[in-house]
Amino acid sequence: MHAIDVIVTKRDGHELSAEQIEWVIDAYTKGEVADEQMSSLAMAILLNGMSRREVSQWTDAMLRSGDRMDWSALDRPTADKHSTGGVGDKITLPLAPLVAACGAAVPQLSGRGLGHTGGTLDKLESIPGWRASLSPEEMLGVLSSTGAVICAAGTGLAPADRKLYALRDVTGTVESIPLIASSIMSKKIAEGTGSLVLDVKVGSGAFMKTVPRARELAETMVAIGTDHGVRTIALLTAMDRPLGRKVGNALEVEESVEVLAGGGPSDVVELTVRLAREMLAAAGMSGAKDPADALADGSAMDVWRAMIRAQGGDPDAALPRAAETLDIPAPASGVLTRLDAYGVGVAAWRLGAGRARKEDPVSFGAGITLHAKPGDTVREGQPLMTLHADDTSRFDSALASLEGAYEVAGELVVEPLPLVIERIS
Ligand code: URA
Repeated sequence: MHAIDVIVTKRDGHELSAEQIEWVIDAYTKGEVADEQMSSLAMAILLNGMSRREVSQWTDAMLRSGDRMDWSALDRPTADKHSTGGVGDKITLPLAPLVAACGAAVPQLSGRGLGHTGGTLDKLESIPGWRASLSPEEMLGVLSSTGAVICAAGTGLAPADRKLYALRDVTGTVESIPLIASSIMSKKIAEGTGSLVLDVKVGSGAFMKTVPRARELAETMVAIGTDHGVRTIALLTAMDRPLGRKVGNALEVEESVEVLAGGGPSDVVELTVRLAREMLAAAGMSGAKDPADALADGSAMDVWRAMIRAQGGDPDAALPRAAETLDIPAPASGVLTRLDAYGVGVAAWRLGAGRARKEDPVSFGAGITLHAKPGDTVREGQPLMTLHADDTSRFDSALASLEGAYEVAGELVVEPLPLVIERIS
């Protein structure tokens, strides 16, 4: 088989055969298909799309390029959640221990932030001592003893995706629904979960800016999961404004702990409980303890503390704080009509919460505290938000990112998206 024949098939709008897909992924992983050939094929896929059969076989080939984890030794069903990423999206932190407290096992392989969206591992690493890298044996140990584990994916998991994602990143081919869906699902299926709930974010702070695009991505991923025997459902959820009131690594850990203590902002609590119920149902545990009760009675907090300790962290340690703060006052009295997720995400990134290149460090204390959300009434001069950074030189570029990102007016002009927009199964 020749790479050029595979490229030409897709370039001319035809379906790739199972043999072509199998061969090209395997040869690319081994270095026998060059980067320029794979990037040309990725562009042809972006322009011409893939059928359900193709995307399923493409995912399968990427999945088989590496290891597949096996949790059959556990005495409870496994459930996982994946979010396509957003601003202030710390839901994994309270959700994993919450679902474990209700009886399912949660093996969660997470990533780091890049660009304006945060990463779960960066957030957890703000807890003194906490370790993201675990061997498969350590992962099983934490999972068996606490019911939940959140850690970094090893290099043996879907190596074809690792290579292809880095290539897509520099060739303008990230935004292809079949390529995004197969990339996410190859890793999630390789992780070995029996059931999966996808949180597909919609809005300015998300990958998918519109409901139709988000729906297409969600339907593609649900189809791939189903084809691979993983019970998969998706929720489309709002990312036109940030989630919760804190954006930044340690700040988001702080807010997650508030939720586990029975408090926290209502949107974070509502989405955490809804996703937990979906995960338990997908795992076949509809009769399990209700997640709202596990937040109220402290059992989710107990799992959180055990999970953090099992990975070397101290759940009682003080979290890092940024040295400098700057309040942004409301420009007028009225209703906060808009608080743009993308603007807030970029501002938090500029403050040091995110990284520009994969190898950059993050500032654990940097970020933004939001004192008002869309729909809230504010008074002129009252702080709308507080910026946190390690040094004051960061404030100017954060302020520039926030220009036009919020608005105070007499009344709401455009209704924010509902928190949960749609369910796809
Ligand atoms: N996240 C992934 O893991 N892969 C993509 O292609 C996009 C987002």
